[in-house]
Amino acid sequence: MLKLKKGIGLYSSLQDGFDRVYINSGTLPYKEQELQPIKFGNWDFVPLFHDKAYLPRHDWRALAPIELAQLNVNTRQQDYNSIFIGDTPAELKQIFEELEITDLTSREEVMARIRERGTIVKKMSDGLQNFLFPKANNKPFKFNCIAANLPNLELVACDISKLHPGFTVPERKYEGLHNDGTKFMKIHTVHKAGNRITINLGKQSRFFYFINLSLIQVFNMIKSKLTFEDEKISIYNIAPYFFKYFPDYPVIKIIQKPYEYYIAPTDNCFHDGSTLGNTSLDINMVYFGSFTC
Ligand SMILES: [Fe+2]
Repeated sequence: MLKLKKGIGLYSSLQDGFDRVYINSGTLPYKEQELQPIKFGNWDFVPLFHDKAYLPRHDWRALAPIELAQLNVNTRQQDYNSIFIGDTPAELKQIFEELEITDLTSREEVMARIRERGTIVKKMSDGLQNFLFPKANNKPFKFNCIAANLPNLELVACDISKLHPGFTVPERKYEGLHNDGTKFMKIHTVHKAGNRITINLGKQSRFFYFINLSLIQVFNMIKSKLTFEDEKISIYNIAPYFFKYFPDYPVIKIIQKPYEYYIAPTDNCFHDGSTLGNTSLDINMVYFGSFTC
């Protein structure tokens, strides 16, 4: 495996924060990994991935002290170069409980329940506003979505815009480790895009995977390997280039327990969520902003 470089830092306000962080030896094209079937409700299928999807290898281990030091870098913690993990306050947890969504089995059911519970949702929204305001650096932040994912999914990100109308769940193709981004972003500008906070509203822990390198670091690493000057690297193809040339660069895994959050610059680093080993619906809530802890 390649050694971790200093790049995106990881910071935890959890008591056992770094006991739940793991490292592996890198990535594999999805076709070289045996995938777990999804068996949930009436579903029983093996998920499909895009041809150029890369997945973390499964050889997870605890980090050595020197690796922890590389991750816990002592630079100024900005929205674009830091990942934070932490817990939500007891008052908010109490409100999340009142939603009673954790035993539901689809996003449609979750959204229907949320529509039914207007008073609780208002209380939750106000509570989140108070919780997020001090983390938002006097910059605007906004609710993005409540997402739901099937359990036992190796990686959860999926771009449904590329599917035909009326697609079925087993027809979805998952992306693999990826950077987010929009058509308005470029490799050298994504660090200005802010970041996100994702709160686990489900019943079980989920995983968050990331590569601790900014897109500019990755771009420079890829450039050093390319022989043809005219190969154009963009935010759309930078992930497959990186994983092709640097399959031995380690992935970091964080266990995110129910109601805990992570803050991450997901436009500026490769990442994904995972529900591997889970048996209940994964539910999470996302706000966009410019958060630090
Ligand atoms: Fe993403």
